[in-house]
Amino acid sequence: MEPKLRTTLHVLSESSQIGYLPTSVMGVDVCFLDPGKPVPADIDLLLADIDLKNPHSVDKIRAFRNVAQQHTQIFIAVNKNDRQNQRQASALGAKKTILKPLSEIGLAIVIEELRTPHRFVTPSTTTIIETAARAMREIFEQAAQQEPIDIDLIGETGRQIAESVADLGVLEWLDTVRVYHHSTFQHVLLVTGIACAFAQGVGMNIEDVAKLTQAGLLHDIGKVWTPASILDKTGKLTREEFDIVKRHPKDGYLQLVRQGNVHPDILDAVLHHHEYLDGSGYPDALAAHEITDITRILTICDIMGALLERRAYKKPFTVREAIAVLFKMADQGKVERALVVAMAKVFDCAVTSLRLPENDLLDSGPR
Ligand SMILES: [Fe+2]
Ligand SMILES: [Fe+2]
Repeated sequence: MEPKLRTTLHVLSESSQIGYLPTSVMGVDVCFLDPGKPVPADIDLLLADIDLKNPHSVDKIRAFRNVAQQHTQIFIAVNKNDRQNQRQASALGAKKTILKPLSEIGLAIVIEELRTPHRFVTPSTTTIIETAARAMREIFEQAAQQEPIDIDLIGETGRQIAESVADLGVLEWLDTVRVYHHSTFQHVLLVTGIACAFAQGVGMNIEDVAKLTQAGLLHDIGKVWTPASILDKTGKLTREEFDIVKRHPKDGYLQLVRQGNVHPDILDAVLHHHEYLDGSGYPDALAAHEITDITRILTICDIMGALLERRAYKKPFTVREAIAVLFKMADQGKVERALVVAMAKVFDCAVTSLRLPENDLLDSGPR
C-alpha cells in the first residue's frame, strides 16, 4: 500500500520564466510561497526554484534549513548539465534536484519521489560523507587550479557534518569515514568530524563551531601541492621529503589569503595547525602565547584524526589509544592538557586507565 502523503508541497519560485502551474498535482495540493518573504518554518516539503548564484536566495534556503524540522525535505530546481548547480543544491541539503524551468512534470516527479517510502528518512551518514567528499574533491581541484575556493560550499559542508555528528554521534561518523578510501579526504573528514564533536561537546557558540569546522575542512588544502608519492609513502619520510611536507600549511594559507574572503581566525588555524606549545612545531616554531585557542584545538583534532585513520599499511588506533597519545604529548608540553581532558570527555573516555599502544606513536601522527 502506498504511504499517505503527510503534507502539502510548498513551492518557492523566484523565476520569471515560471508559466502556469496547477494548484493540485496527482491528488496533492501545491501551495506557492511568496518569494518576497522568508520561507515559513513549519513546512515539511519545499521545492525551491531559486537563483543559486544569488547569495540572498541561497541565504533564504539556509535560513529555512536552520529552523526546519529534522524530517523536512528540500528539492531544488537546477539547470541542465550544470555541475556547479547540482553541487550547490546538494550542499544546501537538497534531497533531489529537478530540472528548470519548473513544470507540472517537475512537480509530479517530486511527488513521485515522496511516494517512495525510503525517501522520508533523513540522509544517512554515508550520504553526507559522499556529499562532503564530493565537495572536498571540488575544493581541492579549485586549489590545484589556483582558483578561488568556494567558501560557501565549505560553510555548507561544515554545517552538514556538524548536524550529522550531532544527530548520530561522532563514533558513527568516524566508523563510516574510515571506510572511505581516499586518504587525504578521509583524513580531512575525520578531523572535521572530531572538531565538530569537540566544539559541540564543550559548548562553543555557533560562530566558533562554524569557524573550527571550516578550519578542519581547509587545514590541509596546501597538500594539493605535495607530491602523492610523499603523501602516500608508507615508511618514514626522508629529511628532504619532510621539508616538502612542511610547506603545506603556508601554501594553503597563501592560497586562502589571496582570495580575501576567509576569516582571519581560520587563516591562522590553517597556517599554524602543526605548531606545538613547546616551540617544536612548524612552519614558524611559534611559542605557546602566539598560538590561538582555535589553532590549539584544531591541532589536537588533527593529531586525533591522524591516529584514528585507517590506511592500507596502518591499523587505526582505538579512541582510547589516541587519547593516551594526546596525554603523552601534553606531558611533553606540546599540546594543552585542558583541551586533551576535554577531548577525553567528548569521547566519554575514562582518563584513569588509558594505556599507550606499543608501536612507534608519533610516527602515526599527522605529517
Ligand atoms: Fe597538516
Ligand atoms: Fe591534517
